[in-house]
Amino acid sequence: MSPDSPIAILSALAEEQEGLLEHLQNAQQVVHGGRVFWTGRMQGLPVVLALSRIGKVAAATTATGLIAHFGATHVVFTGVAGGVGRGVQVGDVVVGTHYVQHDMDASPLFPRFEIPLCGQALFAADASLAATACEAFKRVQPVLRTEQYPAHLHQGLIASGDRFISSSAEVAVLLDGLAAYGYRPLAVEMEGAAVAQVCADYRVPFVAMRTISDRADDTAHADFPQFVRETASRYARAFVMEILNLLSKE
Ligand code: ADE
Repeated sequence: MSPDSPIAILSALAEEQEGLLEHLQNAQQVVHGGRVFWTGRMQGLPVVLALSRIGKVAAATTATGLIAHFGATHVVFTGVAGGVGRGVQVGDVVVGTHYVQHDMDASPLFPRFEIPLCGQALFAADASLAATACEAFKRVQPVLRTEQYPAHLHQGLIASGDRFISSSAEVAVLLDGLAAYGYRPLAVEMEGAAVAQVCADYRVPFVAMRTISDRADDTAHADFPQFVRETASRYARAFVMEILNLLSKE
């Protein structure tokens, strides 16, 4: 790996990336595999920025491009998620220590949730990168928190699937199914576990940080675009700048 191999910053939302592009020095746009990538430097480090797109396959394609085409040494992923763990509230943050694909079911050929031929259902974040992610969020949390959103940090399992979860009944079925195998997710979203699998295949350290935008239930978030603009993208920008700052000192 060349010393100038970049750290990949993957954003689920265009609004998150917009905030980061303002900090990108020597910015160059590269189109590859139908995606727009931005290369340059942030906090003195070489980086490559991309939008994941939505859903497991789209995000896996983007992650593969980051690693195979740009030689990314680490993948740091930000986005939003539905909070399904106890006490995981809108405006909180989950750093994923493990990831599971809640819609993977090749039973009876393989145990439910297991990725066929991988022998595992769970993919772990890189422990050191996850610790750095938590430290980064703890450092910026005091400036991010508001009266409305105290921005509590949670660490644990994130469940991904190609479905936006928007009813309590759906959450209950999903949690029951996973609990039967001992899996208790804190948050649900649509990409993280796919990117974790790609990173595991390429042995590239991975971590995802997700801002909780909803409780995956019938109470749709009052104003999602406003939440993304004023909360999720603010969190993502502060978090990414701080994790890069910490990584630049390692
Ligand atoms: N991303 C944000 N909220 C989500 C939800 N409720 N389900 C799936 N992905 C999400």
